[in-house]
Order: sequence, then C-alpha cells, then structure tokens
Amino acid sequence: MGMEARNNRDGFGSKLGVIAAAAGSAIGLGNIYRFPCELGENGGAAFLLVYLAVVVLLGIPVMLSELVIGRHSQLNAVGAFRKLAPKSAWPVVGYMGVLCGFLIFSFYSTVAGWTLEYIVKAVDNSFSGKDLAAIEKDFEDFHNQGWRNVMWQAAFIFLTGFVVFRGVKNGIEKFTKILMPLLLVILVVLGIRSVTLPDAGKGLAFLFSPDFSKITGKVLISALGQGFFSLSMGMGVLITYGSYIKKTDNLATTALSVTLSDTLVALLAGIVIFPAAFSFGVNPKAGMGLVFNTIPMIFNQMAGGYFFCIVFFVLLAIAALTSTISLLEVVVAYLSEELHIKRQWATVLACLGTMLIGVFASLSLKAGSPFRMGGTSFFDLLDFVSSNILLPLGGMLIIVFVGWRMGKPKFFEEVTNEGRLKMPLKKAIFFVVKYLAPLAIAVIFITGLIR
Ligand code: TRP
Repeated sequence: MGMEARNNRDGFGSKLGVIAAAAGSAIGLGNIYRFPCELGENGGAAFLLVYLAVVVLLGIPVMLSELVIGRHSQLNAVGAFRKLAPKSAWPVVGYMGVLCGFLIFSFYSTVAGWTLEYIVKAVDNSFSGKDLAAIEKDFEDFHNQGWRNVMWQAAFIFLTGFVVFRGVKNGIEKFTKILMPLLLVILVVLGIRSVTLPDAGKGLAFLFSPDFSKITGKVLISALGQGFFSLSMGMGVLITYGSYIKKTDNLATTALSVTLSDTLVALLAGIVIFPAAFSFGVNPKAGMGLVFNTIPMIFNQMAGGYFFCIVFFVLLAIAALTSTISLLEVVVAYLSEELHIKRQWATVLACLGTMLIGVFASLSLKAGSPFRMGGTSFFDLLDFVSSNILLPLGGMLIIVFVGWRMGKPKFFEEVTNEGRLKMPLKKAIFFVVKYLAPLAIAVIFITGLIR
C-alpha cells in the first residue's frame, strides 16, 4: 500500500476534475430511469417529498464524510479504513462497498445495455408513427430475447472496462463537462414538450401534490435507498474519488454541487416522464417500461424528434458510462492496491466477474424466466439488496466512523483544509454526521422492517 501502489493508480489520476468525476458518477440511470420508476411505484409526490428530505438531511453529511475519509487516508475504500483504524473491524465497511459495487454493476449494466439497443432503434427510426401499444410491444419483445439483452450488457461492460483499463483521465473530464450540460438541455426541451401535452396536469399533480397517507415504511426505505443510489453514496465511490482530490480543493462545495446537480437532473426527469406518461396513458407503475416507452412517445410528438431521440439515448448511455466507471473503479482500486493485482488484470477480472452475475440479472427479466421467485426477479433482488440495504447500511457505518472514530478535530481539519478555508456550518454538519443522520437512517430502517 506504499508509494508504489499509489503510483499504480494512474488510471483515474488526479488530473480528473473531481466535481466532474463525482457528478458523472452520481448522474446516470439512477436519475433518469430508476428515480421515475421508484416514484411511480411509491405513490408519486409523497415519495418525492421523502426523497428530498433524505437528500437534504443525508446527502451533504454522508457525501462529505466519504470524501473526508478518502482524502485523509489517500487510499481505496478498504485501505482507507485499514489505515485510519488499524487492527479493527472497520475495513469490513470497505469490503462491503467493494461487494456492493460489484453487485450494482451487475444489474446496472443490464439497463445500461438497453440504452445501446435504443440508440440503434432510434437510428433505425423504428419509433416513428407508432402508437403506445406498438412501442410497448417492441420493448416487451426485446426483453423476451434474453440473449440480445446479454449481448448489449456485455458490450457495455466491455466499454466500461475499456475506459478504466486505458485510464481515460483528462478525456473524461472534458467529456463530462460538455455532455452532462447537454443532457440537461435536452431534458429541459423534453420537459417543455411534456408539460404542454394534453392532460399533462394530471402528471404534474401526481408528481407534486402529495398524499401523505401514502407514506409507508416501504416508501421510506425506497426513498432512502434511492437517495443513496442516486448520489453514489454508501459504498466507497466517494472515498476512492476523495483520495484523488487535491489537498487545496474544497470538499464541502464539491459535495454541495454534486448533490444539487444530481437532484436537479432527477427532478427534471420526473417533469419529463410523468406529464407525458399520464398524457399517453402509460401506467406510472409500469416499472421497466415507464421510461423506455414514454420517451420515444414524446419524441414522436416533437419537431426534429428523430434527431433528438438519437442524441438523447447517446447522452443517456454516456451518463450511464460515467456511473459504471465509478462502480468499476472501486473494485479495481481495491484489487490493485490491496491485493496487488496489476491494474489491467484487475479490470479484466472485475469485468468477467460482473458478467458472470450480470447474465442472470438480464435473463431474469424475461417472461417466465427461471431466474425469478414469485414476482421477484434476480434483477430486482440484486437491486433491492444493494440499494435499499447495503448502501444505507454502508452509509450509516461511514458516518458513524467519521463521527465517533475519526472525530471532530480531523473532520474539521479536512473540511477546512487545515484551517485555510472558512466553513461556517461545520459544527452543525458534524452534529448531523454524529447524531442526527445515523439516527435517521436507523429509524427509517426499523420503520421499513415493521411497515
Ligand atoms: N449514482 C449512479 C446513478 O444514479 C449509479 C452509481 C454509480 C452508484 N456509482 C454508484 C450507485 C455507487 C451507488 C453507489 O446512476
């Protein structure tokens, strides 16, 4: 773990703009695909309210804590705990993170693969003139071709591996800086089209006027899981990235800008999807099909729809890619720094492992697949265990570590860059990290178990 291993780490070197990298990790399918699905299945506006509360209360403190651990230790998720808490059980939190990164990549790559299929469909002009029933049927047919899903998944994993293997570094920073704002622009354009469709008001009401009776234990847990998932928190992505941050960078403003931009994109995705879904008659509880069927329908109703649709799916694929890079990076940083496997081999190994589990995630979505139990597919199981259990648990342990083990002086030292930066709210934030946030996570967990 000495200098030698640190030098191996060039794949994602410090040249990378940290905000760009962290925002690239945060903004992805979690915002544009998973957020609308979860919101649709969990009562609409009530979910949004809890989600926003989770982001405000937990987003900054947990994200900041992860960055603090990473920059303070200058190591990967496992090594960081080993260095800061020698001869203790704390590295288990890091191992949990590595495992979780692996599991998330396994099912995330399934949906990421769909974005590639949809780029091809868009180029083929295969949506134009079709009504909702036809578009829904295409989506279903695609899922019933299990191996076609697997092929795209493999392609996406390969793409991610290629980037991490080569260490695209400065390339990615420029990439993200231009392409993510472009994604934002397209979402705004889509949003305007969506809210001006007939009956859009119903979708807006679903999204924004909460029915408090819908807040159940399941809604709480789902919103908690979605918050962690969307912000890439709780598994060491931000420990790993934090370790690449310069000692002169401001951690708090980094956490703030990542949280804000991520939440903005999720909100916009909601404004795009729900008015249109209600207008076209897509069931908000449709789950998988909600986004992939609604979006082409909107483009069908838009001038220049053919062109914009291609651009949209390309940008979505890239947003997914900057997220999968971060998932893979956690695993690769661990394998190469702790187990001293050459970075390139570590990448190959991690990708093959992901593929091995991922195949079952993809195949489990097919109608009548053997990889589902009752109504729950292997895909759903992976998603549920990692997002709703492992991430919040990991996040809780991370803040408990910072609050109770690292302690206030080291926390203040990191967030103020050894006193060089002013940070007016640091005491309040530390209070949240030490008491409030762990308590909130525990309460949500327990309510969720009781229902
Ligand atoms: N946050 C990403 C998204 O919203 C997904 C992701 C990337 C992630 N890295 C993560 C989720 C680490 C949890 C933990 O698409």
